[in-house]
Amino acid sequence: MNYPRILLLAVLLSLTAACTEQKPSTLGTDAGTERRIDELLSRMTLAEKIGQMNQVSAGGDISNYAEALRNGQVGSILNEVDPDRINAFQRICVEESRLGIPLLVGRDVIHGFHTVFPIPLGLAATFDPALVEEGARVAAVEATAQGIRWTFSPMLDIARDPRWGRIAEGSGEDTWLDARMGEAMVRGYQGTKPDTASMAACVKHFVGYGAAEGGRDYNSTYLTERQLRNVYLPPFEAAVKAGAMTLMTSFNDNDGVPSTGNAFILRQVLRDEWGFDGLVVTDWNSMGEMISHGFGADRKEVARLAANAGVDMDMMTFGFLSHLEELVRCGAVRESTIDAAVRNILRVKFLLGLFEHPYVDVEAGRAVQYAPAHLEAARRTVEESVILLKNDGVLPLDAGRVRTILVTGPMADAPYDQLGTWSFDGEKSHTVTPLQALRERFPGKVVHVPGLGFSREERSRFDDVVAAARRADVVLAFLGEEAILSGEAHCLADLNLIGSQSALLAALKSAGKPVVATVMAGRPLTIERDLPNCEALLYAFHPGTMGGPALANLIFGDVNPSGKTPVTFLRTVGQVPLYYSHNMTGRPYNGETLLADIDREAGQTSLGNTSYYLDYGAYPLFPFGFGLSYTTFAYSDLSLDSEVYPKDGKVSISFILSNTGDRDGTEVVQVYVRDIVGSVTRPVKELKHFERVSLKAGEQRRLQLSFPVSDLAFYGLDGVKKVEPGDFQLWVAGDSASGEPLSFKIQ
Ligand code: GLC
Repeated sequence: MNYPRILLLAVLLSLTAACTEQKPSTLGTDAGTERRIDELLSRMTLAEKIGQMNQVSAGGDISNYAEALRNGQVGSILNEVDPDRINAFQRICVEESRLGIPLLVGRDVIHGFHTVFPIPLGLAATFDPALVEEGARVAAVEATAQGIRWTFSPMLDIARDPRWGRIAEGSGEDTWLDARMGEAMVRGYQGTKPDTASMAACVKHFVGYGAAEGGRDYNSTYLTERQLRNVYLPPFEAAVKAGAMTLMTSFNDNDGVPSTGNAFILRQVLRDEWGFDGLVVTDWNSMGEMISHGFGADRKEVARLAANAGVDMDMMTFGFLSHLEELVRCGAVRESTIDAAVRNILRVKFLLGLFEHPYVDVEAGRAVQYAPAHLEAARRTVEESVILLKNDGVLPLDAGRVRTILVTGPMADAPYDQLGTWSFDGEKSHTVTPLQALRERFPGKVVHVPGLGFSREERSRFDDVVAAARRADVVLAFLGEEAILSGEAHCLADLNLIGSQSALLAALKSAGKPVVATVMAGRPLTIERDLPNCEALLYAFHPGTMGGPALANLIFGDVNPSGKTPVTFLRTVGQVPLYYSHNMTGRPYNGETLLADIDREAGQTSLGNTSYYLDYGAYPLFPFGFGLSYTTFAYSDLSLDSEVYPKDGKVSISFILSNTGDRDGTEVVQVYVRDIVGSVTRPVKELKHFERVSLKAGEQRRLQLSFPVSDLAFYGLDGVKKVEPGDFQLWVAGDSASGEPLSFKIQ
C-alpha cells in the first residue's frame, strides 16, 4: 500500500474513533464492566435478552414464577420485601437458569423503608439537601439489608396544583429546589461508589406528569418544549448528571404523545443530549395504557412503540415478553435496539455488584431496621421540615407553666396516617404519635379528647371537647388529612380542612384557652379560614415515624422551627395555579382593589384591569419559601461585587444576616434572580441559591454567597440554552415575596 493511502486510512480511523468516541458514562461504568456486558450479551438468545426487559410484580407462591425465572423470562421483580423470598427468587435465577443473571429487585422506597421519614414534600421543606441525603442513605441501608437494590425514587415531578394528590411525593413547585433534592436522594440511595448498601435510584416520572390538566392524576399535559426544557426537565437532568441509574416513564401524554412512547424525551433528550446510559423502565402498565390513550391499537403495537422510543424494561404490561421476538423477526424492531436495552439493564446489575452478591444475609438485615441512629435522623428531619405559619407569641410553650394539656383532633393519635402516602413498609406499631410523645414527656398532664374520630367525621356538637378545653391550660389540636387523602389517584377539588375539622377548631377557640394547631397533610391546604381560630399553626407534611417526638420538641421549644414552604399556599382552590415564578404578563397584579374593599354603592367603575380575582386577588396566603421562627432575622448591607458580569463570570453577594430575636435559630437564606428582558418572557423571579444559616440569639454575621452566571441560562426564542445579556434583578431574603432587589447587568 503506498504511503498516501496509509495516511488516508489513519485519518479515517481517527475520525471514526472520534465519532464513536464514548460519551462520558453518567453511571460511571468502566471498560471492564463493558467487556463483561459484551461477553454476556454475546451468549444470550433473543428470548433471554427479551426476558431481561420484563419486570414482574411478585407475590403469592414462588413456584408460580419458577419456570419463568429458570427460562430467563424475568429481569426484575417488584413488591417483594421478604428477604428469604428474595433470596429464593434470586437462587432460581442465579443457580438454575442457563446464564445465571441475577434479578434486579425493586420497591417504592419513597421516603424511608421501615423508618419512615417525612413525605418528600416535607423533605423539601427542610431546604437541607445534606439532611435529605442522610435520610436516603438510611432508607438504602434498611432496604438493601432485605435484598431490595432498586427504589422507584426520587419523584421529581414539578407540581403547581395542590389538587393533584401526588404533590405529596415530590419536592414542590420550584425547579431549583427540586433539582437539589433529587441530586441529594440519588447520592443517598446509590452512594458515591456503589456497594452492597447501594440502591439504584429511579428518577420519575419522566416527564411533566405534575402538570396534569385540572390537577387530576393521569390526565393529559400540554407543556411546550420550552416549558419542558426550562422548568420540568432540569431536575431530571441534574439527577442524571448526579449518576442516577434508572428513570421511569410517566403515565401522561404530553401534547398528544404518551411518555412511554416518546422518542423525543427518551432518545433525543435523555440519551443523545444527556448521555444517560442507565435503564428506563415504564410505569405500571403504562405501556399497555397507550392503548387506552389511543396511541397504539393493541399490545403488540404499543410494545413496538415503546421499544423503538427507548424503553428498556416493561413493568407489568408483558408487552415485550409477548411480542418483541415477533417484532424483531418481522423487522419492526431491530435486534440492535434490544441489545442496547439489555446493555442498559446489565450495566445497572453489574455496577450494583449483583453478580458478585446476589443474596442477602437475612439475620444481619433484620438487625439494622429501625436502628436508633435511623430514628434519630428521622426525628431531626421532621424537626427541620415543620413550617411555623403563625405564632402570636404563644409558642414555644413553657413546660413549667402548663399543668393540663388538652390533645385533640383526628391526627393526634393516627400512627398509620401520620406516615403519609407511599410508605408501604412503614409499620404503624413503630410510629410515635404526638399523643404518645406528649404523654411520655408530660406524664399526668395530658388529657386526650379526640373531638373527631377521623377527618371526615361529620359532627355539629363538640360539647365534650370544649368542656375539656375550658379545663386545660393549652389546647394542642392535630388536624389534617389521613394518608389516603393524598398520593396516587387521590386528588381533591376542595382544599379546605376536610369534614368538620374547621368547626372543631372554631369550637375549641370558643373555650377561651390558647390553641396551637398542627396540620399534618400531603399537600398545602387552604387554611385561611382556620387561622383566626388558633394562636399558632405548625404545618407538617406527613412527618412519618418520628412525628410525635419532633412536634413535641418544636411546640415546647427544644427546637426552633426552620421549615420553609416548598410550594405556594393558596387562599382558595380557585386560585390554582398560583406559584411564585410566574411570568410578569402585560398587566401584572399589584394589589388592586378587591370586592371586599369597596362598599355596596360603588359604581360600575373598573375595580382594576390587571391579572387577578376580584374576590381573592392574586396573592397567596403564604408564598413559596416562607416560614416563621421563634426568633427573627434581618438582612442588611447587601451588595454585589460588581454591576456588570461577563457570561462566564460569577455573581457574588455580600450581606449581613442578623438574628434579631432572643433565641438561637436557623434561617434559610434564599437568592432569587429576575431576567428583566429576554428573547422570550421570563419569570418574575427564580430561586438560584439557598442555604441554611444558624445564628445565636443576637448574633450578626457577614455572609458571602455566589453563583455562576451560567446558572441564569435558559432556552430562549431560538431554542438554544444560553445566558442572554441585559438587565437583571436579585433578591436575598427569607422567602420569595420579601426583600428589595439589587440590579446588575450581564454583558
Ligand atoms: C405506580 C406509580 C409509580 C410506582 C409504580 C410501582 O403506579 O405511578 O410511581 O413507582 O407504580 O409501584
